[in-house]
Amino acid sequence: MGGLARRVSYIKAFRLRSNSEVPALSVDAGNLFTDDRFSANQLPAEVMTKNKWVVKGYGDFHHDAANISYLDLPYLGELLKKEGFDKRLEEYPFIQRLVSANIHPMGDQHRELLPYVIREITLKRGAAGKKVRIGVVGFSEPKPTAPNGVETVYAGFRIDDPFEAAKKVLPELKGKTDFIVALAYMDMASAQRLATENPEIDTIIGARQTSSMDEPQHFNQATITYAYNQTKYLGELRVYVRGDGSAENQINRYVALDSTIPDDPSALDVVTAAHTEFTKEQSDNATAAASLRPSTLIGGGESPYVGVETCAGCHEKENEVWVNSRHGHAMATLEKKNQQFDNECVGCHVVGFQKGGFQSLYTTPQFANVQCEECHGPGRAHASNPGKGYGFVATPVGCMQCHKEPNDPHFDFAVYWPKIKH
Ligand code: HEC
Ligand code: HEC
Ligand code: HEC
Ligand code: HEC
Repeated sequence: MGGLARRVSYIKAFRLRSNSEVPALSVDAGNLFTDDRFSANQLPAEVMTKNKWVVKGYGDFHHDAANISYLDLPYLGELLKKEGFDKRLEEYPFIQRLVSANIHPMGDQHRELLPYVIREITLKRGAAGKKVRIGVVGFSEPKPTAPNGVETVYAGFRIDDPFEAAKKVLPELKGKTDFIVALAYMDMASAQRLATENPEIDTIIGARQTSSMDEPQHFNQATITYAYNQTKYLGELRVYVRGDGSAENQINRYVALDSTIPDDPSALDVVTAAHTEFTKEQSDNATAAASLRPSTLIGGGESPYVGVETCAGCHEKENEVWVNSRHGHAMATLEKKNQQFDNECVGCHVVGFQKGGFQSLYTTPQFANVQCEECHGPGRAHASNPGKGYGFVATPVGCMQCHKEPNDPHFDFAVYWPKIKH
């Protein structure tokens, strides 16, 4: 959902500014769902909730199409289940705007995806009044596995060769449309091959886990551009048409979705409602975990960490600096965002997460915030037998475990250290 409110606001403003004279489509080249904790063929409840809000958000704000990448398959399996499909579609009509020409369900419990969608727009300039049919088709590479292998069966779906699928589907689509947009979740070399082998394609919008802001490339008939990896930038591709309605030129740019772009109020309502639901879900999970294993989790004896209260007893001066630093308030920052139970956030805002320190605000509140031992290392042994030799901090690498893209792209040790020097 990151960036949704700003993205919606930009697109609305674009439509207003261009006086609705420039028809616009909004598409996603793949990797819209969160699947990072897909294991034992199951997604955790909170990931299901996040993804549900993604399909809802995309639908509510009129995205035209999204490509399914192999990364999206675990949740797609939930959406395409035949059981209850009609009801789901009614609730999330965007399901029918998810496309892939080379991904197919393996069993008979799932519906097939549409290979493409066709949108019709009416030109207001150039060939004013002319209707143009735009075909949007999707392709994904198979799931890469280390080293250098691929998995073509994943999460109950089969990922066919995208190049063979392209040769089958594109001539058919060409017969029905005037302009073809291929959404491609694959690397640049594969996108170039797709363009080279298929003269039907007019434009390829690619995506992958890399961030590109390059100029468009031209291969065969197609222009290739890449979407930025994070939701911090919106890619805008402009297609200029000749008097006869055919495409003359394609130019791209990347719009930073920063604080200069206001949040759209209605999209912000959706994002807020989504966050409230995640937080409740995560809080319920944390409570359930606490009731399962109460005493072992309450910090206490077994943790190699002791917490800042103990350090403060002997290191008053350092504690004074810390309490007044932002590290000392990092949990409050998450609470303001209502994301204090979000495991994708807490790791960098606490001490010893997944290392015997912080687990959740219910079981280990004493380990909230970026405490001394996050930098100096677990201090139980030192606290019971104090002396020199404990607590070496490797700088700046230690800092950069957290101070890195995308949370902090501007980290500079020489500037930051003086702010927390103690
Ligand atoms: C019981 C008192 C006590 C507690 C509790 C304590 N320390 Fe210390 N700490 C000391 C003493 C004494 C020294 C040695 C100071 C000296 O000789 O300069 C020291 C030294 C250090 C040093 C410098 C090591 C060096 O080689 O110069 C660091 C860093 C440090 N403590 C961090 C911590 C942290 C973090 C905690 C909490 C996990 C903590 N201390 C808890 C008493 C304590
Ligand atoms: C465990 C993750 C983590 C590590 C390691 C870490 N930081 Fe931070 N740092 C944070 C977080 C999170 C914040 C923001 C806290 C907030 O505002 O709620 C922050 C904020 C800061 C700020 C305030 C930034 C500002 O603009 O005022 C400074 C300065 C800083 N860190 C310096 C450092 C330095 C120097 C190191 C290494 C010695 C370091 N940090 C290591 C997580 C970390
Ligand atoms: C990889 C580590 C990391 C993760 C994961 C992380 N943060 Fe942070 N966060 C930081 C650091 C570092 C800073 C301090 C940035 C600075 O101001 O220099 C920070 C600062 C912040 C701030 C203050 C920013 C500001 O401009 O005032 C907020 C709010 C925040 N984080 C929320 C979140 C949320 C919400 C999540 C989960 C979606 C999250 N963080 C996940 C490391 C992280
Ligand atoms: C963001 C990381 C970070 C946090 C949090 C942090 N420290 Fe440090 N601390 C450092 C760094 C870096 C140094 C400088 C080490 C050096 O100069 O070699 C340092 C230095 C020290 C020293 C002096 C060591 C010496 O050799 O003189 C002590 C004592 C100390 N810290 C204790 C604490 C205590 C107690 C806390 C919590 C209240 C704390 N630190 C929190 C990173 C941190």
